[in-house]
Amino acid sequence: VSLQSFTTFGIAASARHYLRVNELSQLQQISLLPELAGLPRLILGGGSNLILTQDFPGVVVHMALEGRECVSEDAQFVYVRAAAGEVWHDFVQWTLAQGWGGLENLSLIPGSVGAAPIQNIGAYGVEIKDYFHSLSWLEFASGKIHTFTLAECQFAYRDSVFKHALRDQGVILDVTFALAKQWQAKLGYGDVAQALQGIKSPTPKQVSNAICAIRLSKLPDPSVIGNAGSFFKNPLVSVEFRNALIARCPGLVSYLQTDGQYKLAAGWLIEQAGWKGRALGKVAVYAKQALVLVNLGGATGAEVVALAQAIQADVMQKFGVQLEVEPVFV
Ligand code: EPU
Repeated sequence: VSLQSFTTFGIAASARHYLRVNELSQLQQISLLPELAGLPRLILGGGSNLILTQDFPGVVVHMALEGRECVSEDAQFVYVRAAAGEVWHDFVQWTLAQGWGGLENLSLIPGSVGAAPIQNIGAYGVEIKDYFHSLSWLEFASGKIHTFTLAECQFAYRDSVFKHALRDQGVILDVTFALAKQWQAKLGYGDVAQALQGIKSPTPKQVSNAICAIRLSKLPDPSVIGNAGSFFKNPLVSVEFRNALIARCPGLVSYLQTDGQYKLAAGWLIEQAGWKGRALGKVAVYAKQALVLVNLGGATGAEVVALAQAIQADVMQKFGVQLEVEPVFV
């Protein structure tokens, strides 16, 4: 089965078996079918954070479970649940249409609800951990469904327990969010405040519209040009390291974190190293945002790896900073 149209980067690769999951019972059956039981599994959501570097010798499990609802409310919060296969952006827009603010800064992030907690998606000063309540996760080995609280997910910058100890051990079925009834706009990110300058007290929907406009102006639309969003994480460094670097590179863009570390803008490092707009084979550094790699058409996994490694080596040599890749490589 060809996987090319199932990932936003659009690399040609195939899977031995493919299963589209619309119902929970299908997941439980995988372990029972002799031709699938022993094979490696790859869980696929929106495919927006996945780089295929070769054919997959196992079964691709495409999560298409649907449904979203308000499950309860109390004095402070409404609790909203969405199934793993829901499209993230559509879910966000639905919450806004119901009058529940909170997720607007995460508008237009590609991908599915089930994939969102794995890398703790974030943008414009918000991460899903800020509005997360709990999730359900099916463990392959036992067939049991476990509930995970905020603490149990071990969320960090673009990270969670599902990328480490629990990687490939099971699958997220649904996610529940706690949205505060007392809503306050999060306008800390420079671009966002600027876009909303003329509006005195913006509504969640107005904030969402501003975020969408910013993203559309900077980030390539995956339906037009293949990409996986930010290709590298913004590196975290010590205050000493940052101070030494900024003395040498006065333009360095860095953000102080609550734990005292600094986050460096990887896009700035890559641009300064001279990579913005450059191509290697059919893969290029996007001309409007150096943190994004794009498929010029017909890119191979090997080309993606080659360009990523060349950038990493160069940024290491010029700035002494190790860039970590952000998407999952298969
Ligand atoms: N910059 C440059 N050159 C570039 C790109 C960026 O100099 O080519 C500098 C600029 O100073 C700019 C700063 O870096 O002001 C930050 O750039 P931007 O606002 O575009 O954000 P980012 O740090 O590059 C991160 C996330 C994005 C998220 C935006 C907005 C990561 C890995 N990426 O990018 O998330 O949308 O902030 O919050 O943290 C994603 O994860 O796929 C993603 C798109």
